[in-house]
Amino acid sequence: MTRSDERTVSPEQQAREEELVERVVRSFDSCENPRLRQLMTGLVRHLHAYIRDVRLTEEEWDQAIRFLTRCGHITDDKRQEFILLSDVLGASMQTITVNNQAYGDATEATVFGPFFVEGAPEVPLGGDTSGGAVGQPCRVEGTVTDTDGKSLAGARIEVWEADEEGMYDVQYDDDRTAARAHLHTDDEGRYRFWAITPTPYPIPHDGPVGEMLQAAGRSPMRASHLHFMVSHQACRTLVTHIFVRGDELLDSDAVFGVKESLVKDFEQQPVGTATPDGPVVDGTWSKVRFDIVLAPAGA
Ligand code: BEZ
Ligand code: FE
Repeated sequence: MTRSDERTVSPEQQAREEELVERVVRSFDSCENPRLRQLMTGLVRHLHAYIRDVRLTEEEWDQAIRFLTRCGHITDDKRQEFILLSDVLGASMQTITVNNQAYGDATEATVFGPFFVEGAPEVPLGGDTSGGAVGQPCRVEGTVTDTDGKSLAGARIEVWEADEEGMYDVQYDDDRTAARAHLHTDDEGRYRFWAITPTPYPIPHDGPVGEMLQAAGRSPMRASHLHFMVSHQACRTLVTHIFVRGDELLDSDAVFGVKESLVKDFEQQPVGTATPDGPVVDGTWSKVRFDIVLAPAGA
């Protein structure tokens, strides 16, 4: 790729720009924390390279500052526009990818999202996590093992998801807890629970990030998914989702969270199909299997 400054910038101009980069980098020479020095000088080099590469205009710089200011103004203890910005730029997903190194057949991680809540209720094996949230019942089952194939008894599994209307309980007008819970694997590392079949929903798009997506012709929709956080004392905690095979949003997820290994078959069950562990379901339901493999702690 040709950098625009190679086409339009004279040697004298290039020298001025490079001298500035080096001067700013040198301003961190006396920083005593080596990691902070590395982070800041790397940021300066990449930021200046970007400004020089796209030949950023002063008007564009001003617009960017106004955009970031608006991200700050809309952010409060319930709404975090900067995380959303990081998500739609793929920066959250890249940070997760860097920090969850591939290890054997360990299950892949994906974005955490803003809707996890500590202290969700515990359900027994085979219990219902929906808490009355509206949606098609979905039976989820699988195992939790380590990368040597050993069953992990007592692994903690947190699950959370949006209801059929695309709303998480924290977005309801009242304080209800719904479509979130935790449970533990049995002595053979097995788990099973009832949830609701995931459906697509938009990320919050009524703020500056939503405007940016619209201006760029991008959709705010997330592919249908069910969130998992799985932990065991011997293992690296896994934050991930499973996605629904056949969902037309798999290739355009707004936050780049989809990985092929996480796309699962949610098998539709016709009306009248008996459920495995007793509960009576009036209409259709779905079932999915998700076998989870945890990397060792510190992997
Ligand atoms: C979510 O999966 O819940 C989510 C992830 C990133 C941004 C917004 C929502
Ligand atoms: Fe989500």
